[in-house]
Amino acid sequence: MFSSHKELLKSLDSTKLVGLVPTMGSLHNGHLSLIKKAVSENEQVVVTIYVNPTQFNDINDLKKYPRNLESDIHKLRNYKNIFIYSPTDKDLYQEVVSKNYDLDNLDKILEGKFRPGHFSGVATIVEKMFDIFNPDNAYFGEKDFQQLSIIKTMVKKLGIKVNVISCETIREADGLAMSSRNEHMTKGERLIAGKINKFLIKAKELYKNKKIDKIPVSMIDEINNLKNCKLEYFEIDNLSKYSSSLMDEGDRIFIACWVGKTRIIDNITLK
Ligand code: PAJ
Repeated sequence: MFSSHKELLKSLDSTKLVGLVPTMGSLHNGHLSLIKKAVSENEQVVVTIYVNPTQFNDINDLKKYPRNLESDIHKLRNYKNIFIYSPTDKDLYQEVVSKNYDLDNLDKILEGKFRPGHFSGVATIVEKMFDIFNPDNAYFGEKDFQQLSIIKTMVKKLGIKVNVISCETIREADGLAMSSRNEHMTKGERLIAGKINKFLIKAKELYKNKKIDKIPVSMIDEINNLKNCKLEYFEIDNLSKYSSSLMDEGDRIFIACWVGKTRIIDNITLK
């Protein structure tokens, strides 16, 4: 494990393929699927574990974000050619501030509306990691489809030489998308959270049968009527219409909702 990027760079062989998997730690099988893919496609893989303060719009969310570095390191012990980078703020930032990015209008919709400044924080840290490690390939999950789209847009606009590789969403048995924040939920909340994905699937069926082209108010009401549940958005959209840097991957359904004090986001393709 390295907390200094300069030390880590001394161990990397610049003639070999480098894969990068940025994370905020508390690793679960979603993260591990990205890491496994990176290990299979690169000779060296840098996994970053860093709870990036600039992307948190809510100080309490930052304070209570789960941190489990020891168990993360343990989970990665059997992977070959992995370099874990768990920096201090100081190793990354001279001053902990976000840069301004032209992300077309991708940072103004969905998550952007509810988490002001979030995506410039994400873009700042990811650009920084690209700059430090100069990876050939970088791996991001479709679980955060808007984030993935924003990173693809940033890479294209800034002309960064890296392949951005998207990885499918890994789910719990009841369909809930895995997320480090899920561990905050009580048993009761966790049961309710398991229903969220069922709404996505139901809406997808209706869309495919040409019964809806936007989410009906009745479905929105149904979610808001679940115990401790409060929807922020539940929308059908196509992110390629906001950014000419994106290929058209078709419509998707996007959802964000609170279950108690835990915020859940998810999305699925409508293809
Ligand atoms: P974090 O939430 O830790 O996620 C790290 C990476 O794992 C992201 O690319 C995310 O999309 C992916 N991921 C998370 N849950 C997943 C799941 N259930 N299935 C598949 N992939 C999943 O996203 C961040 O951290 C940060 O914003 C980061 C990009 C590291 C910048 O700080």
